[in-house]
Amino acid sequence: MKAVQPPISSPLLLLLLHLWPLCIWGRCIFDQVQSSVRVVSSPILQPNPYDWPLNEAMVKQQVPVISVGRDDLTLQTTQRSQDATSRHPQSLRIRRMEKGWIKALQPQPIRIKTWTSRESPVLSHWERERVEAAVSEAISTVSKLLSVRRVPDRLLLNRDINKYCRFIWRNSSTYNYNRCGRANEKYRAESCLGVTIPDDHLSGYIVYPHPDQPNSQVLKPDGLGVPDTDFLLYMHTQSTAKCRADSSVLAYSVHCQTDADGRPIVGVVVICRESLRVDGFSHERMVQTVIHELFHMLGFSKDLYGTWRDCSLSSQSQLGVGCSSRGHVTNTDETGQMRIYSPNVIKTLHTHLNSTHTELGAPLENQDVGSGGVSSHWEARVLQGSIMMAALGEPSLFQIDRVTLSALQDTGWYTVNFSQAQSLLWGEGEGDLFGSLATCNESSSFFCTGSGLGCHYLHLHKGECQSDEYLEGCRIYKPLANRSECWKEENERKSELENWSGEIYHTDSRCFLSSLIREDHSSHSVSVVGHCYRHRCTGRNMYQIQVGGSDWLDCPAGKSIEVLGYRGTVFCPDRRFCHHHNVNPPASTHKPLLPAQLSTAATFSKRNHTPQPMISNSSLNFKPALPFSTSALKAGMIVASVLVIANVLFLLAVLIIIYRKCCSARVRVHAFIETPHVLQLQAT
Ligand SMILES: *[C@@H]1O[C@H](CO)[C@@H](O)[C@H](O)[C@H]1NC(C)=O
Ligand SMILES: *[C@@H]1O[C@H](CO)[C@@H](O)[C@H](O)[C@H]1NC(C)=O
Ligand SMILES: *[C@@H]1O[C@H](CO)[C@@H](O)[C@H](O)[C@H]1NC(C)=O
Ligand SMILES: *[C@@H]1O[C@H](CO)[C@@H](O)[C@H](O)[C@H]1NC(C)=O
Ligand SMILES: *[C@@H]1O[C@H](CO)[C@@H](O)[C@H](O)[C@H]1NC(C)=O
Ligand SMILES: [Zn+2]
Repeated sequence: MKAVQPPISSPLLLLLLHLWPLCIWGRCIFDQVQSSVRVVSSPILQPNPYDWPLNEAMVKQQVPVISVGRDDLTLQTTQRSQDATSRHPQSLRIRRMEKGWIKALQPQPIRIKTWTSRESPVLSHWERERVEAAVSEAISTVSKLLSVRRVPDRLLLNRDINKYCRFIWRNSSTYNYNRCGRANEKYRAESCLGVTIPDDHLSGYIVYPHPDQPNSQVLKPDGLGVPDTDFLLYMHTQSTAKCRADSSVLAYSVHCQTDADGRPIVGVVVICRESLRVDGFSHERMVQTVIHELFHMLGFSKDLYGTWRDCSLSSQSQLGVGCSSRGHVTNTDETGQMRIYSPNVIKTLHTHLNSTHTELGAPLENQDVGSGGVSSHWEARVLQGSIMMAALGEPSLFQIDRVTLSALQDTGWYTVNFSQAQSLLWGEGEGDLFGSLATCNESSSFFCTGSGLGCHYLHLHKGECQSDEYLEGCRIYKPLANRSECWKEENERKSELENWSGEIYHTDSRCFLSSLIREDHSSHSVSVVGHCYRHRCTGRNMYQIQVGGSDWLDCPAGKSIEVLGYRGTVFCPDRRFCHHHNVNPPASTHKPLLPAQLSTAATFSKRNHTPQPMISNSSLNFKPALPFSTSALKAGMIVASVLVIANVLFLLAVLIIIYRKCCSARVRVHAFIETPHVLQLQAT
């Protein structure tokens, strides 16, 4: 029976939209999926084209396909000026070949090509657009980071001899040792994670009926292969059982084949179709998820840790030549924590934590791990904010950090361009014990205790002190479910009612721990919570802040300040602002906004406004769904305020007439806004 996908009804959509921010997005099930797949490695029988030293025959075979026409041209022009060599066309040709060969060995940005699986359902125009935009951005990011010894000519995938062959000659002294003796009649095609690999991408297969005779039968010739490709990514967009089982799974992936160096050369990424349909679809989140999956497929995988290569003896220009196996890179430390111990990872973590321990490996997640206790994710308590954590959330809070990139460098298959690394603020300079279960229960600028309100450690969001399954009892300020972003102007409450703390939502606003309250507010002391105030840099780790109605005030890092017109204090965090980090709010929240989305956006903004009595009608006119200049918005708000004030004044007058008693001679702006509530109270 054909599985029919019910269209998501709009109440369900609304429900989804409300539930989404509450759960952990992008939980990764990579380890579970990868262990279900049989990875095909390069057959040992085939000569390794990178074998060193080269013999002339191989050079002749390989070079014509490696050297690019234009390089030949430039080579010719430079050669022409050198009379000696140009008189010997033979030596020139060999030189050209060598140059082409050396170039092929030099690491160059990895070329990742995608191929839509034959099994993928036909996607709607906008589903396809969302997938393609996200995947191509992810690939472009990764290929700027990683360079690889490129595959010459075309990438041709291997067939699994254990599938197409009924038996293999196993007598090592025979001519056809390790070759296929009989074909498996039931064999149809190669597949990986439910995706059929086209014959065109695969090498052929040959059967050798006699153990000692060279005669053979070609059952399938070689396919054409995939040109200019170092990693082939099969894309499969479908609502699979794994997607339906856990709505926080956006995508999952596996690597399917490795080359003679052990480098993964092909993978499958399944993109859960339901994640594209949700109205709260975020392009950034999808891009980040695909980058995360690519990092797994390219080497950050427990199934590949054992095949990482040590290339410290090979020269920088000839990546992969003269490498040896690294052996075990994972081990448990004295506390039972599983860690990766590889040179660049150790060095980077050492610098990051400013640790004194010279052999501190990077800890792996110990939740959600199967047998063996090795995970393909970093420990959330120590490397919070890394893109290789087991669960991702709001994209601006996760970085392509140096520790992850060091791990990819330590695979031996890539050289990494570290200039593209993003800074990981979490735990910086905090020492070896940072994030351990023994120390995380003490309040610090990273961990919290209790369940109060505060600021997420990047200060872009207001937060609530919480734990989760990966934190194992440690607590951190996680972004609030609702309107937590200080940099989002729309989060500003439309009424002044609740703004006794002088909050300002603005692109340069950040979260500050504060107990500020307006002097004219009746309550005398309030608890310290996270509030949004503007900030601007005046130097390294030096900045000023602005609170509602105040001037720009110096906020010395690590100290607290008072603000004129307010009781209480604001705490100025140390090494969080105007430091060497580039923690910024996302530039754009949504990628291509389609007309359909625009109309839903408008509906939602309307929906948000209806519960507000009185003010809604007038303010709705000034709340367009399209970008609007701030000055126009301000002008609009002034008009709106005048209207509101007029309304409220009228109401007040009515109240005065009815009750013939006046509350106070003091007239304050906030008091006006309170009146509708007074009315409501009396109505009930
Ligand atoms: C392996 O092949 C050699 C040569 O064909 C033969 O002499 C030998 O008996 C074979 N060994 C076995 C175990 O079949
Ligand atoms: C690394 O990336 C930067 C920025 O894209 C680029 O300018 C630089 O040339 C790259 N370095 C290498 C070695 O590729
Ligand atoms: C690293 O730690 C040492 C003391 O162990 C300290 O003197 C130094 O300032 C720290 N460096 C950073 C960047 O935190
Ligand atoms: C934190 O936990 C450790 C061990 O679990 C305990 O020894 C220590 O007293 C705790 N510290 C606080 C402040 O609760
Ligand atoms: C988010 O805010 C809306 C309106 O202010 C409220 O109805 C809803 O309960 C809030 N959701 C959460 C999870 O706090
Ligand atoms: Zn993962």
